[in-house]
Amino acid sequence: MNDQKLKFGLVGAGAIAQSYVQAFEHCETARLVAVADIREEAARALAHGARCEHHTSYQAMARRSKLDAVIICTPPDNHPGICLYFLERKVHVLCEKPLSVELKAAKLMIETARQAGVKLTMASKFRYVEDVVRAKAIVMSGILGEIVLFENAFTSRVDMSSRWNANPKISGGGVLIDNGTHSVDLMRYFLGPLSEVQVVEGKRVQGLTVEDTVRIFVRSVGGVMGTIDLSWSINKELDSYINIYGSHGTVFVGWRQSKYRQSSSPDWVVFGRGYDKVQAFRSQINNFARAIRGEEALLISAEDSLASVEVIEAAYAALRRSHWTTVNHKVGSVTKPAGVAAANSTAA
Ligand SMILES: NC(=O)c1ccc[n+]([C@@H]2O[C@H](COP(=O)([O-])OP(=O)(O)OC[C@H]3O[C@@H](n4cnc5c(N)ncnc54)[C@H](O)[C@@H]3O)[C@@H](O)[C@H]2O)c1
Repeated sequence: MNDQKLKFGLVGAGAIAQSYVQAFEHCETARLVAVADIREEAARALAHGARCEHHTSYQAMARRSKLDAVIICTPPDNHPGICLYFLERKVHVLCEKPLSVELKAAKLMIETARQAGVKLTMASKFRYVEDVVRAKAIVMSGILGEIVLFENAFTSRVDMSSRWNANPKISGGGVLIDNGTHSVDLMRYFLGPLSEVQVVEGKRVQGLTVEDTVRIFVRSVGGVMGTIDLSWSINKELDSYINIYGSHGTVFVGWRQSKYRQSSSPDWVVFGRGYDKVQAFRSQINNFARAIRGEEALLISAEDSLASVEVIEAAYAALRRSHWTTVNHKVGSVTKPAGVAAANSTAA
Protein backbone atom coordinates (compact mmCIF):
# COMPACT_ATOMS: atom_id res chain seq x y z
CA MET A 1 0.00 0.00 0.00
CA ASN A 2 1.17 3.49 -0.94
CA ASP A 3 1.20 4.90 2.63
CA GLN A 4 3.49 2.20 3.90
CA LYS A 5 6.00 2.86 1.17
CA LEU A 6 9.04 4.96 2.02
CA LYS A 7 9.13 8.38 0.35
CA PHE A 8 12.12 8.87 -1.93
CA GLY A 9 13.58 11.88 -3.71
CA LEU A 10 15.92 11.83 -6.71
CA VAL A 11 18.72 14.38 -7.08
CA GLY A 12 19.79 14.67 -10.73
CA ALA A 13 17.37 14.04 -13.58
CA GLY A 14 19.86 12.95 -16.24
CA ALA A 15 20.56 9.62 -17.89
CA ILE A 16 20.68 7.20 -14.96
CA ALA A 17 17.73 8.85 -13.21
CA GLN A 18 15.51 7.51 -16.04
CA SER A 19 16.32 3.94 -14.96
CA TYR A 20 15.36 4.74 -11.37
CA VAL A 21 12.01 6.14 -12.48
CA GLN A 22 11.33 2.89 -14.36
CA ALA A 23 12.37 0.90 -11.29
CA PHE A 24 9.99 2.83 -9.00
CA GLU A 25 7.06 1.65 -11.11
CA HIS A 26 5.75 -1.51 -9.40
CA CYS A 27 8.24 -1.05 -6.55
CA GLU A 28 6.74 -2.61 -3.43
CA THR A 29 8.80 -0.80 -0.78
CA ALA A 30 9.24 2.80 -1.91
CA ARG A 31 7.73 5.51 -4.06
CA LEU A 32 9.24 8.50 -5.75
CA VAL A 33 7.74 11.73 -4.41
CA ALA A 34 10.13 14.40 -5.76
CA VAL A 35 12.89 15.10 -8.26
CA ALA A 36 15.48 17.90 -8.12
CA ASP A 37 17.76 19.12 -10.88
CA ILE A 38 19.45 22.47 -11.50
CA ARG A 39 18.13 22.15 -15.08
CA GLU A 40 14.47 22.87 -14.55
CA GLU A 41 13.43 21.36 -17.88
CA ALA A 42 15.04 18.05 -16.96
CA ALA A 43 13.50 18.04 -13.48
CA ARG A 44 10.05 18.88 -14.82
CA ALA A 45 10.14 16.29 -17.58
CA LEU A 46 11.25 13.48 -15.27
CA ALA A 47 8.76 14.46 -12.56
CA HIS A 48 5.96 14.60 -15.13
CA GLY A 49 6.66 11.02 -16.22
CA ALA A 50 6.92 9.90 -12.61
CA ARG A 51 3.86 11.89 -11.49
CA CYS A 52 5.73 13.59 -8.65
CA GLU A 53 6.95 17.08 -7.59
CA HIS A 54 9.96 18.77 -9.09
CA HIS A 55 12.45 21.30 -7.69
CA THR A 56 15.35 23.26 -9.10
CA SER A 57 17.63 22.58 -6.13
CA TYR A 58 18.08 19.68 -3.75
CA GLN A 59 17.87 22.13 -0.84
CA ALA A 60 14.39 23.20 -1.98
CA MET A 61 13.40 19.55 -2.32
CA ALA A 62 14.62 18.85 1.24
CA ARG A 63 12.65 21.82 2.60
CA ARG A 64 9.40 21.20 0.74
CA SER A 65 9.11 17.44 0.32
CA LYS A 66 8.99 15.14 3.30
CA LEU A 67 11.57 12.51 2.42
CA ASP A 68 12.72 9.30 4.09
CA ALA A 69 15.53 8.77 1.60
CA VAL A 70 17.23 10.19 -1.48
CA ILE A 71 19.06 8.74 -4.46
CA ILE A 72 21.94 10.89 -5.69
CA CYS A 73 22.26 10.78 -9.50
CA THR A 74 24.52 13.78 -10.12
CA PRO A 75 28.07 13.71 -11.51
CA PRO A 76 30.64 12.34 -9.03
CA ASP A 77 32.32 15.59 -7.88
CA ASN A 78 28.95 16.63 -6.38
CA HIS A 79 28.38 13.42 -4.43
CA PRO A 80 30.04 14.32 -1.10
CA GLY A 81 28.44 17.77 -0.76
CA ILE A 82 24.93 16.58 -1.60
CA CYS A 83 25.19 13.37 0.45
CA LEU A 84 26.47 15.23 3.52
CA TYR A 85 23.61 17.73 3.21
CA PHE A 86 21.02 14.94 3.45
CA LEU A 87 22.87 12.75 5.95
CA GLU A 88 23.15 15.68 8.36
CA ARG A 89 19.35 16.03 8.08
CA LYS A 90 18.92 12.33 8.89
CA VAL A 91 17.75 11.38 5.41
CA HIS A 92 19.00 7.98 4.24
CA VAL A 93 21.19 8.12 1.12
CA LEU A 94 21.74 5.79 -1.81
CA CYS A 95 24.52 7.43 -3.81
CA GLU A 96 25.34 6.53 -7.41
CA LYS A 97 28.83 5.19 -8.05
CA PRO A 98 31.52 6.26 -7.45
CA LEU A 99 30.72 7.17 -3.85
CA SER A 100 33.35 9.90 -4.13
CA VAL A 101 36.38 10.67 -6.27
CA GLU A 102 38.37 11.26 -3.07
CA LEU A 103 38.97 8.80 -0.27
CA LYS A 104 38.98 11.52 2.41
CA ALA A 105 35.52 12.72 1.41
CA ALA A 106 34.22 9.13 1.27
CA LYS A 107 35.39 8.54 4.85
CA LEU A 108 33.68 11.74 5.99
CA MET A 109 30.43 10.64 4.33
CA ILE A 110 30.54 7.30 6.11
CA GLU A 111 31.35 8.85 9.48
CA THR A 112 28.54 11.39 9.04
CA ALA A 113 26.04 8.62 8.27
CA ARG A 114 27.20 6.69 11.34
CA GLN A 115 26.83 9.71 13.61
CA ALA A 116 23.42 10.58 12.17
CA GLY A 117 22.26 6.97 12.55
CA VAL A 118 21.10 6.73 8.93
CA LYS A 119 21.92 4.38 6.06
CA LEU A 120 24.44 5.24 3.37
CA THR A 121 25.09 2.92 0.47
CA MET A 122 26.62 3.13 -2.99
CA ALA A 123 24.66 2.08 -6.04
CA SER A 124 26.26 -0.91 -7.72
CA LYS A 125 23.53 -2.39 -9.88
CA PHE A 126 25.28 -5.57 -10.97
CA ARG A 127 25.20 -7.02 -7.44
CA TYR A 128 21.41 -7.05 -7.70
CA VAL A 129 21.19 -8.83 -11.06
CA GLU A 130 19.49 -12.17 -10.39
CA ASP A 131 22.06 -14.11 -12.45
CA VAL A 132 24.92 -12.52 -10.48
CA VAL A 133 23.26 -13.48 -7.19
CA ARG A 134 22.78 -17.07 -8.42
CA ALA A 135 26.35 -17.23 -9.74
CA LYS A 136 27.62 -16.18 -6.33
CA ALA A 137 25.62 -19.01 -4.71
CA ILE A 138 27.16 -21.46 -7.21
CA VAL A 139 30.68 -20.25 -6.38
CA MET A 140 29.99 -20.35 -2.64
CA SER A 141 28.57 -23.89 -2.85
CA GLY A 142 32.04 -25.18 -3.73
CA ILE A 143 30.91 -27.17 -6.80
CA LEU A 144 33.43 -25.31 -8.96
CA GLY A 145 36.26 -26.33 -6.63
CA GLU A 146 38.99 -23.89 -5.69
CA ILE A 147 38.47 -20.57 -7.53
CA VAL A 148 41.61 -19.55 -9.42
CA LEU A 149 40.67 -16.86 -11.93
CA PHE A 150 38.04 -14.11 -12.16
CA GLU A 151 37.49 -12.29 -15.45
CA ASN A 152 35.28 -9.29 -16.11
CA ALA A 153 34.88 -6.93 -19.06
CA PHE A 154 32.80 -3.80 -19.48
CA THR A 155 33.60 -2.52 -22.95
CA SER A 156 31.49 -0.53 -25.38
CA ARG A 157 32.12 2.32 -27.81
CA VAL A 158 30.90 5.59 -26.35
CA ASP A 159 32.01 8.99 -27.60
CA MET A 160 33.13 10.69 -24.40
CA SER A 161 34.64 13.79 -26.02
CA SER A 162 31.90 16.13 -24.81
CA ARG A 163 30.73 14.34 -21.66
CA TRP A 164 31.64 15.07 -18.04
CA ASN A 165 32.79 11.43 -17.71
CA ALA A 166 36.06 12.42 -19.43
CA ASN A 167 36.60 15.58 -17.37
CA PRO A 168 38.76 14.43 -14.47
CA LYS A 169 37.81 17.41 -12.30
CA ILE A 170 34.23 16.15 -12.36
CA SER A 171 34.67 12.40 -12.80
CA GLY A 172 37.95 11.74 -10.98
CA GLY A 173 39.46 10.05 -14.06
CA GLY A 174 38.45 8.04 -17.12
CA VAL A 175 37.06 4.59 -17.76
CA LEU A 176 38.99 3.19 -14.79
CA ILE A 177 36.84 4.99 -12.23
CA ASP A 178 33.70 5.10 -14.39
CA ASN A 179 33.29 1.41 -15.28
CA GLY A 180 35.96 0.10 -12.93
CA THR A 181 33.96 0.97 -9.82
CA HIS A 182 31.40 -1.64 -10.91
CA SER A 183 34.14 -4.18 -11.63
CA VAL A 184 36.01 -4.00 -8.35
CA ASP A 185 32.77 -4.12 -6.41
CA LEU A 186 31.75 -7.26 -8.31
CA MET A 187 35.07 -8.96 -7.73
CA ARG A 188 34.85 -8.17 -4.02
CA TYR A 189 31.28 -9.52 -3.98
CA PHE A 190 32.42 -12.88 -5.35
CA LEU A 191 35.85 -13.22 -3.78
CA GLY A 192 36.10 -10.96 -0.77
CA PRO A 193 38.63 -8.18 -0.11
CA LEU A 194 41.24 -7.35 -2.73
CA SER A 195 44.89 -7.06 -1.84
CA GLU A 196 46.87 -5.97 -4.90
CA VAL A 197 46.19 -4.19 -8.15
CA GLN A 198 48.10 -3.39 -11.34
CA VAL A 199 46.80 -1.38 -14.30
CA VAL A 200 47.96 -1.17 -17.90
CA GLU A 201 46.59 1.53 -20.17
CA GLY A 202 45.70 0.92 -23.80
CA LYS A 203 46.09 3.24 -26.76
CA ARG A 204 44.00 6.40 -26.37
CA VAL A 205 41.88 6.61 -29.49
CA GLN A 206 39.44 9.34 -28.47
CA GLY A 207 42.01 12.07 -27.86
CA LEU A 208 40.83 12.46 -24.26
CA THR A 209 42.93 13.72 -21.35
CA VAL A 210 41.96 10.55 -19.44
CA GLU A 211 42.36 6.82 -20.09
CA ASP A 212 39.74 5.28 -22.39
CA THR A 213 40.94 1.65 -22.29
CA VAL A 214 42.61 -0.21 -19.43
CA ARG A 215 43.38 -3.75 -18.35
CA ILE A 216 43.40 -4.28 -14.60
CA PHE A 217 45.15 -7.15 -12.84
CA VAL A 218 43.90 -7.80 -9.33
CA ARG A 219 44.62 -10.30 -6.61
CA SER A 220 42.19 -11.05 -3.80
CA VAL A 221 43.30 -11.55 -0.21
CA GLY A 222 42.38 -15.20 -0.74
CA GLY A 223 44.88 -15.46 -3.62
CA VAL A 224 42.45 -15.45 -6.56
CA MET A 225 43.74 -13.51 -9.57
CA GLY A 226 41.53 -11.34 -11.66
CA THR A 227 41.73 -9.56 -14.98
CA ILE A 228 39.33 -6.78 -15.86
CA ASP A 229 39.05 -5.07 -19.26
CA LEU A 230 37.40 -1.67 -19.46
CA SER A 231 36.94 0.50 -22.50
CA TRP A 232 34.91 3.35 -23.95
CA SER A 233 36.60 2.77 -27.33
CA ILE A 234 36.34 -0.91 -28.20
CA ASN A 235 33.71 -3.56 -27.81
CA LYS A 236 34.97 -7.05 -27.02
CA GLU A 237 31.59 -8.43 -28.22
CA LEU A 238 31.54 -10.97 -25.41
CA ASP A 239 28.47 -12.95 -24.46
CA SER A 240 29.39 -12.90 -20.79
CA TYR A 241 30.67 -10.12 -18.53
CA ILE A 242 31.85 -12.33 -15.66
CA ASN A 243 33.75 -15.61 -16.07
CA ILE A 244 34.91 -17.44 -12.98
CA TYR A 245 37.19 -20.46 -13.29
CA GLY A 246 37.65 -23.02 -10.54
CA SER A 247 39.61 -26.26 -10.24
CA HIS A 248 36.37 -28.23 -10.85
CA GLY A 249 34.32 -25.99 -13.08
CA THR A 250 33.50 -22.68 -14.69
CA VAL A 251 30.64 -20.20 -14.45
CA PHE A 252 29.75 -17.55 -17.06
CA VAL A 253 27.41 -14.67 -16.22
CA GLY A 254 26.08 -13.38 -19.52
CA TRP A 255 24.07 -10.55 -21.00
CA ARG A 256 21.46 -12.94 -22.39
CA GLN A 257 22.13 -16.21 -20.59
CA SER A 258 24.19 -17.49 -17.66
CA LYS A 259 25.53 -21.01 -17.27
CA TYR A 260 28.02 -23.20 -15.45
CA ARG A 261 29.75 -26.49 -16.11
CA GLN A 262 31.46 -28.83 -13.71
CA SER A 263 34.52 -30.54 -15.17
CA SER A 264 32.97 -33.93 -14.34
CA SER A 265 30.07 -33.25 -16.72
CA PRO A 266 30.00 -32.65 -20.47
CA ASP A 267 26.91 -30.45 -20.14
CA TRP A 268 26.48 -26.80 -19.34
CA VAL A 269 23.71 -25.96 -16.88
CA VAL A 270 21.82 -22.80 -17.78
CA PHE A 271 20.73 -21.00 -14.61
CA GLY A 272 19.72 -17.52 -15.73
CA ARG A 273 18.24 -15.49 -18.55
CA GLY A 274 20.71 -12.63 -18.53
CA TYR A 275 20.86 -9.00 -17.53
CA ASP A 276 17.64 -7.15 -16.61
CA LYS A 277 18.48 -3.55 -15.77
CA VAL A 278 15.10 -2.54 -14.35
CA GLN A 279 14.96 -5.67 -12.16
CA ALA A 280 18.44 -4.84 -10.83
CA PHE A 281 17.55 -1.22 -10.02
CA ARG A 282 14.28 -2.27 -8.38
CA SER A 283 16.02 -4.90 -6.24
CA GLN A 284 18.58 -2.29 -5.23
CA ILE A 285 15.83 0.12 -4.08
CA ASN A 286 14.03 -2.72 -2.27
CA ASN A 287 17.15 -3.79 -0.41
CA PHE A 288 17.89 -0.17 0.60
CA ALA A 289 14.29 0.43 1.74
CA ARG A 290 14.14 -2.83 3.71
CA ALA A 291 17.47 -2.00 5.33
CA ILE A 292 16.07 1.39 6.39
CA ARG A 293 13.09 -0.41 7.95
CA GLY A 294 15.45 -2.80 9.71
CA GLU A 295 14.06 -5.80 7.81
CA GLU A 296 17.31 -6.88 6.14
CA ALA A 297 20.98 -5.97 5.92
CA LEU A 298 22.29 -3.65 3.23
CA LEU A 299 23.83 -5.72 0.45
CA ILE A 300 26.44 -3.00 0.00
CA SER A 301 27.47 -1.71 3.39
CA ALA A 302 29.13 1.66 3.91
CA GLU A 303 32.41 -0.27 4.27
CA ASP A 304 31.88 -1.98 0.89
CA SER A 305 31.29 1.44 -0.66
CA LEU A 306 34.50 2.74 0.89
CA ALA A 307 36.45 -0.32 -0.26
CA SER A 308 35.55 0.44 -3.89
CA VAL A 309 36.94 3.97 -3.51
CA GLU A 310 40.10 2.54 -1.91
CA VAL A 311 40.67 -0.02 -4.68
CA ILE A 312 40.13 2.58 -7.42
CA GLU A 313 42.53 4.96 -5.69
CA ALA A 314 45.14 2.16 -5.51
CA ALA A 315 44.47 1.36 -9.18
CA TYR A 316 45.23 4.96 -10.21
CA ALA A 317 48.44 4.86 -8.16
CA ALA A 318 49.38 1.65 -10.00
CA LEU A 319 48.54 3.22 -13.37
CA ARG A 320 50.75 6.26 -12.67
CA ARG A 321 53.62 4.05 -11.48
CA SER A 322 53.16 1.35 -14.15
CA HIS A 323 56.48 -0.46 -14.38
CA TRP A 324 57.41 -2.03 -17.70
CA THR A 325 60.55 -3.99 -18.48
CA THR A 326 62.07 -3.08 -21.83
CA VAL A 327 62.57 -5.95 -24.25
CA ASN A 328 66.09 -5.83 -25.67
CA HIS A 329 65.81 -6.38 -29.42
CA LYS A 330 69.12 -4.95 -30.66
CA VAL A 331 69.61 -6.43 -34.13
CA GLY A 332 72.97 -8.19 -34.59
CA SER A 333 73.80 -8.45 -30.93
CA VAL A 334 71.93 -11.59 -29.91
CA THR A 335 73.63 -12.96 -26.84
CA LYS A 336 74.82 -16.55 -27.12
CA PRO A 337 73.41 -18.72 -24.30
CA ALA A 338 76.22 -20.42 -22.32
CA GLY A 339 77.30 -23.77 -23.79
CA VAL A 340 75.73 -23.16 -27.23
CA ALA A 341 78.14 -22.87 -30.15
CA ALA A 342 77.24 -20.28 -32.77
CA ALA A 343 76.35 -21.86 -36.12
CA ASN A 344 79.14 -20.11 -37.96
CA SER A 345 81.90 -20.52 -35.35
CA THR A 346 83.06 -23.94 -36.64
CA ALA A 347 82.82 -22.93 -40.28
CA ALA A 348 85.30 -20.10 -39.77
N1 LIG B 1 24.77 2.53 -12.19
C1 LIG B 1 25.01 2.75 -13.46
O1 LIG B 1 24.98 1.85 -14.28
C2 LIG B 1 25.34 4.14 -13.91
C3 LIG B 1 25.25 4.46 -15.27
C4 LIG B 1 25.49 5.78 -15.64
C5 LIG B 1 25.82 6.71 -14.68
N2 LIG B 1 25.93 6.35 -13.37
C6 LIG B 1 26.31 7.32 -12.35
O2 LIG B 1 25.19 8.16 -12.10
C7 LIG B 1 25.62 9.50 -11.86
C8 LIG B 1 24.98 10.42 -12.89
O3 LIG B 1 25.36 10.03 -14.18
P1 LIG B 1 24.44 10.39 -15.47
O4 LIG B 1 25.03 9.63 -16.58
O5 LIG B 1 23.03 10.21 -15.13
O6 LIG B 1 24.80 11.93 -15.63
P2 LIG B 1 23.97 13.01 -16.42
O7 LIG B 1 24.92 14.10 -16.76
O8 LIG B 1 23.15 12.42 -17.50
O9 LIG B 1 22.93 13.57 -15.32
C9 LIG B 1 23.36 14.26 -14.18
C10 LIG B 1 22.27 15.26 -13.80
O10 LIG B 1 22.62 15.88 -12.56
C11 LIG B 1 22.22 17.26 -12.65
N3 LIG B 1 22.95 18.01 -11.64
C12 LIG B 1 24.27 18.38 -11.66
N4 LIG B 1 24.56 19.05 -10.53
C13 LIG B 1 23.41 19.11 -9.79
C14 LIG B 1 23.10 19.66 -8.53
N5 LIG B 1 23.99 20.30 -7.78
N6 LIG B 1 21.84 19.54 -8.07
C15 LIG B 1 20.90 18.89 -8.82
N7 LIG B 1 21.15 18.35 -10.03
C16 LIG B 1 22.40 18.45 -10.50
C17 LIG B 1 22.53 17.65 -14.09
O11 LIG B 1 21.86 18.80 -14.47
C18 LIG B 1 22.10 16.39 -14.84
O12 LIG B 1 20.75 16.47 -15.24
C19 LIG B 1 27.15 9.46 -11.92
O13 LIG B 1 27.67 9.29 -10.63
C20 LIG B 1 27.45 8.22 -12.76
O14 LIG B 1 28.71 7.63 -12.48
C21 LIG B 1 25.68 5.09 -12.99
